Amino acid sequence: MVCDRLHPDNKKAMTDPDLLQDLKNIWHPCTPLKDPAITPLLLVDRASGIYLFDNKGNRYMDVISSWWVNLLGHNHPRLNRALSRQMEKMAHVMFAGITHEPAIRLAERLIQGTPDNLTRVFFSDNGSTAVEIALKMSLQYWKLSGHAKKNRFAYLKDGYHGETLGALSVCGSQLFRDKFDDVLMSNVEVQGPDCLRCPFGLKRESCQAECFDAMQNTLDTHSESLAGVIVEPLVQGAAGMKMYPPVYLKKLEDACKAKNVHVIYDEIAVGFYRTGSMFVCQGHELHPTFLCLSKGITSGYLPLAVTLTENSVYEAFQGSFENFNWFVHSHSYSANPLACAVANETLALLEEPGFSESLQQKSGVMREVACQLEELPWCGEYRQIGMIGALELVRDREKLTPFPVEKRIGFEIFKEGLTRGLFLRPLGNIVYFMPPYAIEEDEIKTMIRSAGDSIRAVLEKE
Ligand SMILES: Cc1ncc(COP(=O)(O)O)c(C=O)c1O
Repeated sequence: MVCDRLHPDNKKAMTDPDLLQDLKNIWHPCTPLKDPAITPLLLVDRASGIYLFDNKGNRYMDVISSWWVNLLGHNHPRLNRALSRQMEKMAHVMFAGITHEPAIRLAERLIQGTPDNLTRVFFSDNGSTAVEIALKMSLQYWKLSGHAKKNRFAYLKDGYHGETLGALSVCGSQLFRDKFDDVLMSNVEVQGPDCLRCPFGLKRESCQAECFDAMQNTLDTHSESLAGVIVEPLVQGAAGMKMYPPVYLKKLEDACKAKNVHVIYDEIAVGFYRTGSMFVCQGHELHPTFLCLSKGITSGYLPLAVTLTENSVYEAFQGSFENFNWFVHSHSYSANPLACAVANETLALLEEPGFSESLQQKSGVMREVACQLEELPWCGEYRQIGMIGALELVRDREKLTPFPVEKRIGFEIFKEGLTRGLFLRPLGNIVYFMPPYAIEEDEIKTMIRSAGDSIRAVLEKE
């Protein structure tokens, strides 16, 4: 088979017929078209625990839980069994006019595990859609309750909430939105926390979220037209695991309440114990109007998402059939029974006695071992919340000067990582660790040490 896109240096590496076929037919997500020709894709044949195995039997640690979804490890016996059990009974049914036990149990569990104000669960099948649903519910709620002018949202600079057009309208990252800016909703971007380069010279451990002023100004100026504010609580993932303190969220809750504006929490990346508590809102006693969850909900087995909201929102949609006041939003795979069954088992595993304590222990080890990364001359900051660790690499440590984009140091480190059995996927200049919770303490040590070696191999040449 001839592949005209193959880089000459790579012809030897890329001889596998399946890889060549892939290159010929498949358009991969979030991948510059030249990259698979420069570094052959990993042809993964099987996965177990925290490891991916390629078709030649090589092993790679899944350092980022396969895009932050695989909470409990690949090929988990209990999740496999839950899936097979459900498969014997029913794989799929539509979810309008029909309900089923896996969805009923899951909604019950989610309502029990989240703050008291969240009492209704709407099912869908991916994170972007969970966000779309929250935005649409909020907009329709305000229309139904006589505030039709409340028709836009505030979002944080660098925030990420998915890539469908509605979700993109509340994304604060130019990389994702700039090609589509002209067709997006006219929302309000707000400068959010930037703790590493804090303009007030404060530390996230002790500040009072002085940077909240920007959000307060937005709420003071635009509350008449604002339906809601959307945030990724505590960690802005795609922005490079930017972390900020809970005091910001407390201020947001109080200010939005005072201005009659909804609060939308996107816990798609941080839910299910990633930051230490089952959910950020529940762990910090916060009460968003909407909570969006996906990714880890099935521990990476099947696509599933939920948008939770309050009774006050739900009740507003009680109008008559002829008025079409109900919520018109449907997906073929809403509440898929297989996905719900695996989600129920995922939650059962997370809720087992001692689970959160064992995670706390692992998070402690990760923080301790990561000290060695702080010694690297390019360490701008190592930050960590729960089971998310991130190292921001900078060219100049004192001035925190970033490496130029065209150097693509993240991609170079990714390639070095592969040679050391790590599947990293740095976000630009940020190398981060978000492993499945099944990782053992000695594996945490290996992960950090090998990541450090990969970084050194790239940056010592700079
Ligand atoms: C915070 C956040 N929101 C939404 C999404 C979109 O989820 P999905 O990729 O399932 O559409 C992501 C995905 O990375 C995310 O991190």
